[in-house]
Amino acid sequence: MELANIRKDYRLKVLDENQISRDPLQQFEIWLNEAIEIRANEPTAMVLATATPDGVPSSRIVLLKALSDHGFGFFTNYSSRKGTEIALNQNVALLFHWPELERQVRIEGKADKTSYRISEDYFNTRPYESRLSAVISNQSQVVPDRKFLEKLWEEQQNDSVEKEVARPSHWGGYMVEPFRIEFWQGRSNRLHDRILFYRQGMDWNITRLAP
Ligand SMILES: Cc1cc2nc3c(=O)[nH]c(=O)nc-3n(C[C@H](O)[C@H](O)[C@H](O)COP(=O)(O)O)c2cc1C
Repeated sequence: MELANIRKDYRLKVLDENQISRDPLQQFEIWLNEAIEIRANEPTAMVLATATPDGVPSSRIVLLKALSDHGFGFFTNYSSRKGTEIALNQNVALLFHWPELERQVRIEGKADKTSYRISEDYFNTRPYESRLSAVISNQSQVVPDRKFLEKLWEEQQNDSVEKEVARPSHWGGYMVEPFRIEFWQGRSNRLHDRILFYRQGMDWNITRLAP
């Protein structure tokens, strides 16, 4: 395989600090909306990186389900590998890649559990079948085989009355409050645009990084 010969020049767009919003969350929303409008593949999918207290990292994709002045929200199992890592180390990183727009956004921040109400409200919007899976899946634990999971799922289905499935206490949301957000726009000849926002007190500073 000639991996060394796989390359692409990026020419679609430019990122100019004079035209960017002074609020990185607003700028993120503009880019996310563009990704949704052009029907990018899984526009809300983001890589979530966590780390153990002694710095061993792990990453996986989760879906962005909330965006506000407070940051970026997603939902998961609190007892999963990511959940146990966040419990011991709140520092996380998020990464969005929208190849159709030749764009990347890197976010670093602190993750906190969302309120009971937010977790409850979102859980109840999920399809019945997904709620059943959340109840029976001890996410990240070893299981004997697929049949084991399917049996648990069917048993849970038989037990649930009129599609009422309560949110298990180990399932809920996290909100990531960012302190660093970098917008990357691919440019020609590998001379990409990188605009970095970093938090200083209540303010956001803006700088440009070398590609
Ligand atoms: C496109 C996509 C979306 C996903 N969305 C979520 C999600 O929103 N929440 C979640 O817990 N896992 C989601 N997953 C599964 C995670 O990537 C991961 O397998 C799971 O959360 C267990 O991770 P952990 O063992 O590191 O905790 C998604 C995977 C993919 C590929």
